Amino acid sequence: MTSATSEATPMLKVLLGVSGGVAAYKACEILRLLRSAGADVTVVPTRAALQFVGAATFEALSGHEVVTDVFTDVPNVAHVATGQLADLVVIAPATADLLSRAAAGRADDLLTATLLVTRAPVLMAPAMHTEMWTHPATVANVRLLRERGTFVLDPAVGRLTGADSGVGRLPEPDHIVAMAMLLLRRRDALPRDLVGRRILVTAGGTREPLDPVRYLGNRSSGKQGFAIALAAVARGAQVTLIAANTSLVAPPGVQLVPVGDARELASAVSELAPAMDAVVMAAAIADFRPKSPLAAKIKKNGTDPAPLELLTNPDILLGLVRARRGSSPVIVGFAAETGDEHGSVLDHGRAKLSRKGCDLLVVNDVQAGRGFEVDENAAVILAGDGADPIDVPLGPKTALAAVICDQISRLLPNVNAR
Ligand code: CTP
Repeated sequence: MTSATSEATPMLKVLLGVSGGVAAYKACEILRLLRSAGADVTVVPTRAALQFVGAATFEALSGHEVVTDVFTDVPNVAHVATGQLADLVVIAPATADLLSRAAAGRADDLLTATLLVTRAPVLMAPAMHTEMWTHPATVANVRLLRERGTFVLDPAVGRLTGADSGVGRLPEPDHIVAMAMLLLRRRDALPRDLVGRRILVTAGGTREPLDPVRYLGNRSSGKQGFAIALAAVARGAQVTLIAANTSLVAPPGVQLVPVGDARELASAVSELAPAMDAVVMAAAIADFRPKSPLAAKIKKNGTDPAPLELLTNPDILLGLVRARRGSSPVIVGFAAETGDEHGSVLDHGRAKLSRKGCDLLVVNDVQAGRGFEVDENAAVILAGDGADPIDVPLGPKTALAAVICDQISRLLPNVNAR
């Protein structure tokens, strides 16, 4: 069995640039999350950012002095040293002005000077009013930055500074940090290998209604599927995420399709899958549904067993495999297994892979209490083409997501780009 690289990394240096917008206060949360993820963070705010958050806050949270201009610490040539030492630059929030100065290659403060010096990956998380984001000048600046290899996230849609809402909100701090960690840990191996590819991911757990207040459900949080969507978007894919009953916010740039029960999920998959290069079935789908969900709440009637008749739901993964022509799309299934007297977790996984006929099967051992409602996961990835199984050790769900994307990418050359 091949072992995927472990997530253990030496202390990596992140330069967190903060430009002057109201969302600058969220940079404090991003800083804390980056440090909890094990990064050594130096904050470089613009002068305008310090109108929103004081240098003392950034210094206390980062443990490093905060400098904004190139005339401080001149003997050590701070802008060159700061840029050269960084393993990753994250700018959050990135205002319209910062995007413009970065696109023009200006160097009129420490942050922009550092951007010209660094050869590390740069991740920018814009935040501004909708009108500024959609202005042709900003659109052109973002396009230019992306062409040069800067990862510019799409802003989120939601409440803006005032009472208004729309596109322009800073992406969620945990999404920015998850993307940052993907770039940091795999910067030599985070290719844009999924550019032009369309990937459909299902996530969450279906709920099969019994009556207006009850349902048959499961413990899936959706975190693994959302992590896969984020990893695929980071590598340039166009991602659609069918999410069953999750409260998670879609990663920036991902199109979200909310569903409730298995049949809704099935019809969303059958509508969307034919246009996809890969489909990842991470959702936990109920195998059974109540035969006739009632419009009124079911009352106790004192009889045992309770009046519950079940029907079998369609096997969506199996249907996908049977419906495809040739090798497109690449199809990835998941299997939550427990070992028993009939075989080990891997034995059950191998049997499921051949039963379902998918290209990859991500096998979780759920006996160990892993997989559900937590941020970490471990799995073995089995391949239908006979490639060695890949053992992914316990680590963040984003790490497993990255290995799944590697495997999809390995299989995609066999699939014509759409
Ligand atoms: N799946 C599906 N349709 C279903 C049930 C499951 O497409 N009605 C998909 C899941 O999204 C997952 C894979 O099938 O990718 C395996 O799910 P699992 O529940 O482990 O498999 P089952 O076929 O239900 O097998 P078991 O008898 O072990 O429950």
